[in-house]
Parts: sequence; structure tokens; C-alpha cells
Amino acid sequence: MRALLLDFDERRPRLADVPEPAGGEVRLRIQECGTCGTDRDLAAFAFGAPPSGESQLILGHEAVAEVADSSVPGLAAGTIVVPAVRRACPTPCASCARHRRDLCVTGAYQERGIFGLHGYCAEWAVDRAEDLFAIPPRLVDVAVLVEPMSVVEKACDVAVRLHPGEPSQLLVLGAGAVGMLAAWAGVRRGWQVTVVSREPEDGPRARLLRTGGVRYRTELPGMEADLVIEACGSAELAAAAVGCLKPLGVMVTLGARNETVRLPFLDLIVGNRTITGSVNAGPEHFRQAIGTLAGLEPAWLRPMIERRPLARALESFGAPAGDAIKVVHTLH
Ligand code: BGC
Repeated sequence: MRALLLDFDERRPRLADVPEPAGGEVRLRIQECGTCGTDRDLAAFAFGAPPSGESQLILGHEAVAEVADSSVPGLAAGTIVVPAVRRACPTPCASCARHRRDLCVTGAYQERGIFGLHGYCAEWAVDRAEDLFAIPPRLVDVAVLVEPMSVVEKACDVAVRLHPGEPSQLLVLGAGAVGMLAAWAGVRRGWQVTVVSREPEDGPRARLLRTGGVRYRTELPGMEADLVIEACGSAELAAAAVGCLKPLGVMVTLGARNETVRLPFLDLIVGNRTITGSVNAGPEHFRQAIGTLAGLEPAWLRPMIERRPLARALESFGAPAGDAIKVVHTLH
């Protein structure tokens, strides 16, 4: 079968024919697979690992698939599913044992298409039923947004749980796919949402956000928010945005890197403000993501997606994404 893989010997991503996977409870016919910043970091060998004893990793962790064969009652052939990314650590820690692998404390978890397990950017894959989330038929065309939305749902949950009051204003840093999905999740929760990013105020992303009632700015000064979701990759901007947090405010950082930045600790203390990180998502967040996407206007979501045949996959790593917010490769 055709697959997009990362070759750890040749140190490059490439398209190749590989054997079809065997075993598993469920055989999946992959329909499409999204790419994100993690895939671009993987392609630059910033992190990631092939399965033990192999030198190639099939990429792809944002998949939409059709169940081709299933030995599991209740999961019929033809069902459209989105798989979870993370699998439990070998001797499951307390978090992994209660199906919260996103909270794994050993660091020995595996992630499909990222750490130690092949991903889904291939024609076929196998899985366990417990790792699959069924997609209602009317959501299939935007289902590739479920995985990134699950990460956003977890971030929103974390933020709300840590905020000791009643948050109503969300500031999102970054207008990539995760930033835009965070904005839509905030709108859906009834919050007043502002996105701050580099793209021009009259650009397509800003225009799309405004159609959904989201305010868009290119500068932080003057902003105030109860909650901040960082989805821009910059610790410097995240640190600057601490100054936008109202008392009791919570910032959830999703993409910033290990940079040395100055933090106003006294403002955190006297304002009871919180900064926290969040990664991956639990099963409930996948279910919430499906519910949230179902409640949003398709006209806000569909323009985010640009579909390309698998044959063009290498382009998606070579150049910046340009106007495409979510580049998706079609497999079948
Ligand atoms: C994925 C997460 C994953 C994280 C770190 C993100 O792109 O959405 O599921 O845990 O990368 O590997």
C-alpha cells in the first residue's frame, strides 16, 4: 500500500509502498489524514521515533477512516471513525489505566504517527475498537478536524477547571488550525473571543473568524481576558499575554517551546493567575470535539480544509502552508 513515511536512515520524509498491516480488532480503510505543526517538526527530525526495531515511521495522526472489517459487535463495516493518537505506557500508570493516556506520567506512552507506532497516512491501518470514535454521517466532511479539536476541548476544560470564577472572555494566540478551532470552541461555549496573530486584519483567516463573531487583532496591547489559549508556538508572545490575564485568569499553553522568557511572578501571585500546559486529549475530549463540531456552522469549518492527493504530500512539508489552514491528504 502507498504510505507517507519518515525514513530515519535517509533522514527525510518520502512516499513508498509498504506491506499492509495485519491483526488488530478493526481494519480501517483510511479516507484522509491531516497534517499539522507536529508533522512538520517530525519531518525536520525535531522529535519522533519509528516502531522499535524499524527505521521508518508511517506519519499521520489526524485521520478519518472507514471500518472495512471488524470483529467487534457494535462497530459495523462502513462506520466512519476518527482514531485516538496516544496508546498506554507498557505497564500502565494510574492515568493510562483509567484511559487518560493524555495524562500519562511515565512518558513511556506511544503515539500513532509520532512516537513508536505507525500512523495513518497510508491506505490501510488496524486498530482496537476502544481507540476509535464514530462520526455521524453529516460531520464526515469536517471529521479531520476532530483530533485537533479534541486537543482544544481538553485545553478549554483545563482552563475552566482552573479558573475559580466565571470566565467569559477568551484570548487565543495564533490563527493556525488549533487557534481557529479554539476560537470556534470558545464561541460555542458562549465566550467573547479574540484571536491575536500575525496574519493581516484583512486576510482570509481574519475574515473567516469575523464571520463567526470572533474579533481579530495583530497586536496584544490593550487586550484583556479571563482565559488565554496559546496556539502560536511562541513562549515570548505567551509571556507577553500574561499581562492580558484578568485576576483569576488562566493561560493554557499548547505550542510554545522551551525559550527563556521573563514572567511577572508577582502579578501571578497577587492576581491568583495560573499558567498551565496541556497535551493530547482523553476519550471524553474526542466525544466533546465531535459534539462541538456538530454545533458549529459548516461555513466556518469547511474553508479551513484544503484537500490534496497523497502524491502531493511531500509538498506539504517543503513549503509553509500558505493560505491553507489545514492541509489534508486523501488516501482513497
Ligand atoms: C497531537 C497530540 C500529540 C502531540 C504530541 C499533537 O500534534 O495532536 O495528540 O499528543 O502532538 O506528540
